[in-house]
Amino acid sequence: MTESHPPKTRDQWGSRMGVILAVAGSAVGLGNFLRFPVRAAAGGGGAFMVPYLIALLLLGIPLAWVEWTIGRYGGQHGHGSGPGIYHRLTKGRPWAKYLGVLTIFIPLVICFYYVYIEGWTLAFSFFALTGTWDKAIAAGEMDKFLSGFMGAESNQYFDGPWTAIVVFLLVFLANYWVLYHGIQKGIEKLSKIGMPILFACGIVLVVRVLTLGTPNPAHPDWNVNNALGFMWNPDWSKLSSGRVWIEAAGQVFFTLSVGMGAIMAYASYLRSKDDVALSSLTAASTNEFAEVILGGSIAIVAAAVFFGAAGASEIAKGGAFSLGFITMPYVFAQMGAGGIMGFLWFLLLFIAGITSSVSLIQPALTFLKDELDWSRRKALVVIGAINLAVTGFIAMTIGFGTLDEVDFWAGSVLPVVSGLVMIVLFSWFLGIDRGFKEMHKGALMNVPRVYRFIMKYVTPAYMIFLLVFWAIQDWWPTATMQNITDPQRVLMIGITRGILLALALLLVYLIYVANRRHKFPHLTGEE
Ligand code: PHE
Repeated sequence: MTESHPPKTRDQWGSRMGVILAVAGSAVGLGNFLRFPVRAAAGGGGAFMVPYLIALLLLGIPLAWVEWTIGRYGGQHGHGSGPGIYHRLTKGRPWAKYLGVLTIFIPLVICFYYVYIEGWTLAFSFFALTGTWDKAIAAGEMDKFLSGFMGAESNQYFDGPWTAIVVFLLVFLANYWVLYHGIQKGIEKLSKIGMPILFACGIVLVVRVLTLGTPNPAHPDWNVNNALGFMWNPDWSKLSSGRVWIEAAGQVFFTLSVGMGAIMAYASYLRSKDDVALSSLTAASTNEFAEVILGGSIAIVAAAVFFGAAGASEIAKGGAFSLGFITMPYVFAQMGAGGIMGFLWFLLLFIAGITSSVSLIQPALTFLKDELDWSRRKALVVIGAINLAVTGFIAMTIGFGTLDEVDFWAGSVLPVVSGLVMIVLFSWFLGIDRGFKEMHKGALMNVPRVYRFIMKYVTPAYMIFLLVFWAIQDWWPTATMQNITDPQRVLMIGITRGILLALALLLVYLIYVANRRHKFPHLTGEE
């Protein structure tokens, strides 16, 4: 082994359009169509957009620029994941590569449950076409249907989680099949086919919802106008609660897929002079269109047309899953062409899901290929085996709250930590001057100068504030399981944490092994 690590030939994106669609595909996910409408409706409707836009400008967009830039930079040196990239950004500080574990661990852990839910969306698209749930709908038992399906209980609709598991296996294979075909022939192709279909489904659904009129003569005030009003009329009083500001920031973070390593891995397959400044902004804008225009006009609005504002408000309180998988089937059952619309809705969710989940697995794959020289096949087999085992565990224990537990750590706590690490290493260790120079190589637009200041001070301060505030409000009670009394639940959540910890330690160990093989060469000053 030589001291330096000459970059091997890496995969490359085929076109600028391809990489933008792939990153947009990662960003446009279940978060846009389920999480966003619930958060916005509960957070003051139009008023929610104020903290949302501020977070977008001060947090989401700067982080996206940074992640694209350091991803492309790492790729030039043969690294597509945090350990190698952070090693370079800090000129070889020994601790930096270990912080990079976050950018592999977080997306991988999100994928463990994300792919499972993706399976539900595929299953539900078939249920919509075939009317599998008609009895449950007639009996008003969609909640039982869903909990039977996901295996939280055995009932007359499902005898155990087997249907969910079989569909999961199909979706699982589809994900790994795409990844096996690599960046250009796998991910890029999926995105080029999937994204137009996704937008077409979205537009059809929006048009259908906006032409619902007043479907229920008994309730003339349950109509599209009032439903849109319910979703979007600003309730400014909500903005005085700190919580709404935090939730808006969390949503921006999750929906743009920033700060967690997914975009970093994708950007590492760019060429050295490929634009990042405008591409990043284009992908982010595409996501915002899908989120605010499409996501903001379908689920909650349709729910408010059929259940009135008071009903929709209750539904929003029930959360994203119950909106998507319990309320929406009722909505489609009452809508003209409901079967087809239901099918399109779950197909949209499925495509949104799969174009996101491949980006959740890619960082681990990139890491094993770049730093341990594993073949793509070997890496996929090992990641896939771990994925099967952990998702299997989650599927069998979902009734104990294990999915929520995993989402709590990987979907809300750690991404903020990881994003903070990323922006600080960029702005303070690489340095904002070099960072900006790097960002503007081959750039098709100039990033406004004010972002030098924002990236150096405002974004990190904003994230530290989020971390502290969240820690006090939410994390501590959840982390210490304060609200859980059932000993079996405590045990299952304990096991879940054990699994996560073991995985994190395994990844740290692999970074250590790569280091012993001189994958993170000694770096001196200028480079
Ligand atoms: N952005 C995706 C969504 O909105 C989720 C995601 C997060 C995907 C992080 C990749 C990386 O659903």
